[in-house]
Amino acid sequence: MCGIIGYVGSEDALSIIREGLANLEYRGYDSAGTALCGETVDVYKRKGELSALEGVLPSSSTATTGIGHTRWSTHGEPTDANAHPHTNESGDVAVVHNGIIENYDELKAELEARGHTFASETDTEVVPHLVEEELESGRSLVDAVSAVVDRLAGSYALGVVAAGHEGVVATRNGNPLVLGHAEDGTFLASDVPAFVEHTRRVSYPEDGDVIHITREGATVYADGEEVDREVIEVDWDAEAAEKGGYEHYMLKEIHEQPRALRQTISGRIDEVQGEADLEIDLPTEYLNSLEEIQFVACGTSYHAALYAAKLLEEYADVRASAEIASEYEFDGGRDPWRTLVVAVTQSGETADTLSALRRAKRAGARTLAVTNTLGSTVTREVDDTVFIRAGPEIGVAATKTFCSQVATLALLSVYVGRERGAMSSGDARELLSDLRGLPGAVQQVLDREEQVRVAAEEYADGDAFFFIGRRLGAPVALEGALKLKEISYDHAEGFPAGELKHGPLALVTSETPVLAVLTEGSNADETLNNVKEVESRGAPVIGCASLSVDAEKYVDEVFEVPELGELESLVANVYFQLFSYHVANLKGRSIDKPRNLAKSVTVG
Ligand code: G6P
Repeated sequence: MCGIIGYVGSEDALSIIREGLANLEYRGYDSAGTALCGETVDVYKRKGELSALEGVLPSSSTATTGIGHTRWSTHGEPTDANAHPHTNESGDVAVVHNGIIENYDELKAELEARGHTFASETDTEVVPHLVEEELESGRSLVDAVSAVVDRLAGSYALGVVAAGHEGVVATRNGNPLVLGHAEDGTFLASDVPAFVEHTRRVSYPEDGDVIHITREGATVYADGEEVDREVIEVDWDAEAAEKGGYEHYMLKEIHEQPRALRQTISGRIDEVQGEADLEIDLPTEYLNSLEEIQFVACGTSYHAALYAAKLLEEYADVRASAEIASEYEFDGGRDPWRTLVVAVTQSGETADTLSALRRAKRAGARTLAVTNTLGSTVTREVDDTVFIRAGPEIGVAATKTFCSQVATLALLSVYVGRERGAMSSGDARELLSDLRGLPGAVQQVLDREEQVRVAAEEYADGDAFFFIGRRLGAPVALEGALKLKEISYDHAEGFPAGELKHGPLALVTSETPVLAVLTEGSNADETLNNVKEVESRGAPVIGCASLSVDAEKYVDEVFEVPELGELESLVANVYFQLFSYHVANLKGRSIDKPRNLAKSVTVG
């Protein structure tokens, strides 16, 4: 996720872009840049937060046209060269982009063969080169961008300027783009907060639209024909706008999950062959000789690792375990050459995870990182890295990163399973098709938020909360309890359902709601027996149940989980996120910054 902005009008573009980028920084903050456009295109960009860009911006400018970008890296580390805007070699075409261009490798090779040279590792840089070629053939900037768009695969929102061409041309496919219509100019941006101080009159272009913004306003083209897109008035204050209208970042991030998941899986699934492409290349002989995969992680990432270990054991025919990083020793007679150690860490900076990883490296094991953060410490220390591409997560309680971690690790299980010859193409296709269905299934749960809010109201005053599940439901039970305790400060415990009768049952009363995972892949029938045990002690039960499980007659409240095979428990987790959020919100807790906790714990 990145933020883009553009402005054409009568005001000073530099100050407008600067202010807009500050309002969009929540979308990404590992580098930023702007292109100011008049007779020439002047590009300023820097790695790091906006303050670093401030250091290179001119103190004033006469430009009244400009584009800007704040970056959350997906292709290429955060460096000055990889920061946007990207230009062609002569620097007279500049582009800002949010999204992923999936066929950039192919396009780049083609452009190189025609003599173009590239300055960055990004997917974006192909766009200004392609636009340059179209302009050279005599096209207008609108026609040039339209022609280029026909060649792009993937998702994008783009803003393009070119020296000697009026205004900014923008387009979108699958990534957000909103236009702002003010008295003194027109804006484009990834999100309303970028310009809400200037105007509340907005319109939303559709996928495939090409928009030309000039001093006269915005003209929108669909399939080459001019079209009208309705202008509406938004009624947000600036602070709410920053959170996209949500009361808390956590809720916004919960709702961002479908989009984050689409980014996670984008370009990585080959359903025809039953293959997953994670842009890593572990030698097949190495994978075939593997005896064990050990995940090391903390907190929510540990729960994602527990989920993954079960998928790996099932599909890749390899012993797999999740280890709490702060407890980790590389011991037990393991053969380092036959053990792959995978660090799962959204930040890439967690001290306990890094020190576990270093132990594994010292022992001689090969290492892999699964992280959300390009350029983070973990990526510099491992042999291979896979990015989960969830976009920045601001709320301390991890939500969308958990979902994207599990999705990425499910892809890893297909990759390893297929390479080892342990997973049939049929099984791979089934899991990959479930992964494709995941964003939609999560959306169906989000659409039922009101049911969860009402249930939260009913049960919020419980003395304690117990979360139970088996197999793939067990890590989700742990994660559900962690989420609730982190943000509501209620006593919550999660455990494999079979453990109930070995102790926790002593705590179960009519005042302790029990939340159960009753999905495919979670041995729901056995968990239903545990549900009966707690019900007979008077405890109210909420069941996250798939349609195939006959839960209705045993539980007080059913949260319906769409059918999605081995990923149903991951979808059930979205109910737990919403339940935790609403319980905490009813109690007026500091949801985005819970007491005593930090987003990234860099001390051991
Ligand atoms: C902290 C955060 C948790 C997070 C854990 C691991 O404890 O509060 O939300 O799950 O660190 O973080 P990581 O960045 O390694 O995934």
